[in-house]
Amino acid sequence: MTSQPQRPAFGTVLTSHMAVASHQGGRWSASEIKPVAPLELSPAAHVLHYASTCFEGFKAFRRADGSVHIFRMDRHIQRMRQSARLLVLPEPDPAQLADMVRAVITRCRDAVPEAPGALYLRPILFGTTANIGAAATPTTEAALIVLASPVWDYFSGGVKPLRILVDAENTRSAAQMGMVKTGGNYAAALGPTLAARAKHQVDQVLFCPGGQVQETGAANFVLIRDGELLTRGLDSTFLHGVTRDSLLTMARDLGFKVSERTFDVKEMLEWVKTGEAALSGTAAVLAGVGTLIYRGTEHRVAGGEVGPITRSLRAQLVAIQQGEAADRHGWLERV
Ligand SMILES: Cc1ncc(COP(=O)(O)O)c(C=O)c1O
Repeated sequence: MTSQPQRPAFGTVLTSHMAVASHQGGRWSASEIKPVAPLELSPAAHVLHYASTCFEGFKAFRRADGSVHIFRMDRHIQRMRQSARLLVLPEPDPAQLADMVRAVITRCRDAVPEAPGALYLRPILFGTTANIGAAATPTTEAALIVLASPVWDYFSGGVKPLRILVDAENTRSAAQMGMVKTGGNYAAALGPTLAARAKHQVDQVLFCPGGQVQETGAANFVLIRDGELLTRGLDSTFLHGVTRDSLLTMARDLGFKVSERTFDVKEMLEWVKTGEAALSGTAAVLAGVGTLIYRGTEHRVAGGEVGPITRSLRAQLVAIQQGEAADRHGWLERV
């Protein structure tokens, strides 16, 4: 057996350079590539008081021939613009943001890990207008920065079955903010997630406000069984994952019956008696659930292991991302 090399934890290492642009006087400045360094920011900056900020997260993959390919950047940029719009932040120009991402990859090409690693790309946008009396006034000035980080596994321990607490009491975010990728939503989920970790030794919390299954703190949730997939239909209460969309598209291509609708905890617990469950997201890819804990009772999922259909779907999605299977939908862009 070969031993696993020690990898830095997800997101803890940045590349040497970042791309930066600013919004002033109603327009975006030209972007620049700069060494990653601390920022200068007014202590009165809008973001520090009124949380005017959003971000994205997606990956670029290095192939065996050395070429680097970004996965579904257009979708992530669209979602970032939607987040900005809903937070009344200046919207990034899509062509400029795409160029900033390409420029960081080009500058830091050597930092893109080989498979199974990837370069995680993290654009952030935040309000910089200096005004502490702007609770009900949008920021006019903003900064847009693209960071990059070489990553390996998101969940430490690699592909292992996850323990998930089913929480039917708390909400992850305000109902109209679920589809916005903004820091405040993660801050809101942190307390319940840490409490669940301490009490039940779980990896994540599955938020099910009003008993309806929604999503976890950092990934969407899908139920899987032979030839069939069930996940919540798109609404404003949760983040519309690009991985979710990719998985559903791929499953339809494979002839799966894909249902997108609301379902409750009771239906989920029935499903996992014989079926599988998984979390989907850029970082998690498709991570199998081995245990669901609901109201103090542990429910085994897929015999407590990552289910075979989950494994197979994950492998097929990774094969597309890494260029080992056909890219039928034009999801990859070579840089
Ligand atoms: C709350 C939340 N839901 C879902 C997702 C999955 O989204 P995607 O597949 O676009 O990464 C993420 C990850 O970005 C997330 O943070």
